[in-house]
Amino acid sequence: MATRIGIGLLGLGTVGAGVASILNSPEGRHPLIADLELARVAVRDLQRSRPVAIPTDRLTTDPNEVVDDPNVHVVVEVIGGIEPARTLIMRAISAGKSVVTANKAVIARHGEEIAAAAAAAGVYVLIEAAVGGGIPIIEPLKQSLGSNRIERVSGIINGTTNYILSRMADEGADYHAVLKEAQELGYAEADPAADVDGHDAADKIAILAGLAFGGPIERSAVPTTGISNLQGRDVDYATQLGYGVKLLAVAERLESDGDPMGSLPLGVRVQPTLVPKDHPLAGVSGVNNAILVEGDPIGRVMFYGPGAGSGPTASAVVADILNIAGIRQLNSSDGGLDPLLAASSWRSCHLVDSSRIRQRNYVRFNTEDAPGVIGRIGSCFGEQGVSIQSIVQFDACDEGAEIVVITHEVGNGAMQNALQAITSLPGVRSLAAHFGCF
Ligand code: NDP
Ligand code: HSE
Repeated sequence: MATRIGIGLLGLGTVGAGVASILNSPEGRHPLIADLELARVAVRDLQRSRPVAIPTDRLTTDPNEVVDDPNVHVVVEVIGGIEPARTLIMRAISAGKSVVTANKAVIARHGEEIAAAAAAAGVYVLIEAAVGGGIPIIEPLKQSLGSNRIERVSGIINGTTNYILSRMADEGADYHAVLKEAQELGYAEADPAADVDGHDAADKIAILAGLAFGGPIERSAVPTTGISNLQGRDVDYATQLGYGVKLLAVAERLESDGDPMGSLPLGVRVQPTLVPKDHPLAGVSGVNNAILVEGDPIGRVMFYGPGAGSGPTASAVVADILNIAGIRQLNSSDGGLDPLLAASSWRSCHLVDSSRIRQRNYVRFNTEDAPGVIGRIGSCFGEQGVSIQSIVQFDACDEGAEIVVITHEVGNGAMQNALQAITSLPGVRSLAAHFGCF
């Protein structure tokens, strides 16, 4: 029988509330989530209104009570900052409890000490949410890419600054106004200077470098330039020259410099960088992040997705909790497999009739180049309840014309009825192509 696993949440702000709301609604998610119980929650202000309901007897303003509670098996630290976060993490480890944290500031500075204490205590400290928000990058670096010799990790790893730079480039938006918006959306750090001065990205690239190259680096030695002194005109000029401006973080393996201890030389930096418009990182806009990992033999792989915000970050935090829960269940059972690694089925699924599927469509008709053909096609779609996004005629000549239609989202059944009716219309010779359209 599955054992309940008590979760102690330190912090109920942007990320903490996202975690609580996933734990409060397990339906449709991995069944292990239903075995997790939000046992205690620490906040600073008990009177503050929260987007998620927590029974008042589980709330406390003393985070030590959460860590020490015997019903708490896994401690989730989403308070942020260095202290008391570091001390609370160490306290949980000393009590033999595994920890999940989204706190890159504390991991970039005290990760070695924390990892050593966790190894000695035989517990896990998992940090998927600390880099890239909802993007899985920590576990892929630790596990899925483990066979590679990594050459370079680079990318956009701060959502707030990417949001600001995208809005400046796309709309000429004002830097301070967009920063305020990013704060309201829950993307920015408690002190947003950490974002705009590049320190948050530096924390994250220090963590990624440590994982990718196998050894911790000195966080304070990472050369860091943020975007706070960037002028709107630089973004304009870069755009005119065919570039986007991104705050890039890079960590790369360099040629051996003959270090007597055999230490691996790395180049690590955070700085505003012009990226050619056709580069994969140029299209990463808004709060999205992307991390390019280059290695042998994989070549280049890119991880992309929302880099900040309540839901995406909570997604990564809860994934870490599930990893720990899976291991706990494995250890407490008489044999069997880790339920996450084994990926066994946990419900039944079936395919619906394709007429129930809804999608946008691209269709191309061969027609006569005659008056009224486009009108008849448009009317026929309308009669079948298919809404058209665009209809364009190409290659009109004596031999005929090609008419391309892109529809709004519609059920496949209605679409098939419309196509059948249209191919019988006078002037329509054939349906030449029909694809889905995202
Ligand atoms: P918030 O400021 O929104 O939330 C912090 C929470 O911690 C609040 O609930 C606050 O209580 C509580 N808290 C602060 N100090 C104490 C204390 N001494 N004792 C008890 N509770 C305390 O931060 P976020 O949720 O945005 O960030 C949390 C962590 O996650 C940070 O390390 C951040 O870097 C990281 N992170 C954030 C992301 C994001 O998109 N926001 C993305 C990825 C990582 P109260 O509510 O009462 O003030
Ligand atoms: N402030 C951070 C950012 C949160 O904007 O990327 C996610 O780590």
